[in-house]
Amino acid sequence: MRLPFFLAKRFVAAESVHRTLPVAAGLTKQGLHVTLDLLGEYISDPKLATEAKESYIQLVRSLHETRHEIDQNISIKLSMLGQKIDESFCLDNLHELLLVAKETGTFVRLDMEGTDVTDSTLSLFEKVYPDYKDHVGIVLQAYLKRTGDDVARMCELGARVRLCKGAYKEPAHLAYQDMPTIREHYLRHMETLLTKGHYPGIATHDDMLIAATKQYVTDHNVPVGDFEFQMLYGIRPETQLSINEEGYNMRVYVPFGTAWFPYFSRRLRERKENVWFVLKNMFRR
Ligand code: FDA
Repeated sequence: MRLPFFLAKRFVAAESVHRTLPVAAGLTKQGLHVTLDLLGEYISDPKLATEAKESYIQLVRSLHETRHEIDQNISIKLSMLGQKIDESFCLDNLHELLLVAKETGTFVRLDMEGTDVTDSTLSLFEKVYPDYKDHVGIVLQAYLKRTGDDVARMCELGARVRLCKGAYKEPAHLAYQDMPTIREHYLRHMETLLTKGHYPGIATHDDMLIAATKQYVTDHNVPVGDFEFQMLYGIRPETQLSINEEGYNMRVYVPFGTAWFPYFSRRLRERKENVWFVLKNMFRR
């Protein structure tokens, strides 16, 4: 069953690129940075993975054609490029995309998905990183017990990391389950990335973590240009603007496309207020 798009409208910019670009341009005009994410994940048919690669390349070209009206910055999922079919096929697809990213001056962030692909995602990242240092970055999830080692490795490489809590349901032997422990680890990784990392993205809507980050950069004289905050489209838009007005870089992750259901359901699972928001809108149309 396909749900009507209006349900997801708060969290997903549009179903097509041409309707998403004006949304991204509007955010840019307000002083925000953006990263565009063509939704979809866990593709199991090579034909669809090839199509996804073509769509990503087309997106990079469309952004380039806006002549810097919109940031040339996209987020992708390797499971869309065939990671679960064959890693070397996925690597070829990723190379092809990054080649166009390099030509056009685009930055490509590899989103982090479930623990079934964590090792594979980090290993593919390390394979492409030496050739595309300024054009590719990774995401690390504070709820994973392994992340301290991954943060250290990414600092050693000088790679750009987005730090988030983690959005997938993971078992207790791999991931911390309770919020105080996840926050405690988030804070530790945030401090390491701000001290030893390269332009980290502090991705959270959590006031406690945002306040701690501001405090840490003030106490340790970290220039505000050396990192950015990141939030999701449609979540706390006033806070996005106010953080930007305080002088910090704020990047908004703008998802779009027809395959929005898994992303949308993660946002609902995360926060019961999001469910109320959707229900209210169902009856308001
Ligand atoms: P969380 O939902 O844990 O809320 C904590 C507190 O924040 C709340 O108690 C409240 O105080 C405040 N708050 C949150 N939302 C609010 C609202 N709407 N209004 C008022 N207060 C609010 N995950 C992943 O696994 N892989 C990935 O690649 C990414 N990528 C990514 C990019 C970006 C830019 C972001 C922001 C997030 C991701 N995530 C992700 C998702 C991430 O892992 C996580 O699931 C969500 O960000 C939710 O965690 P938060 O820390 O944002 O707040």
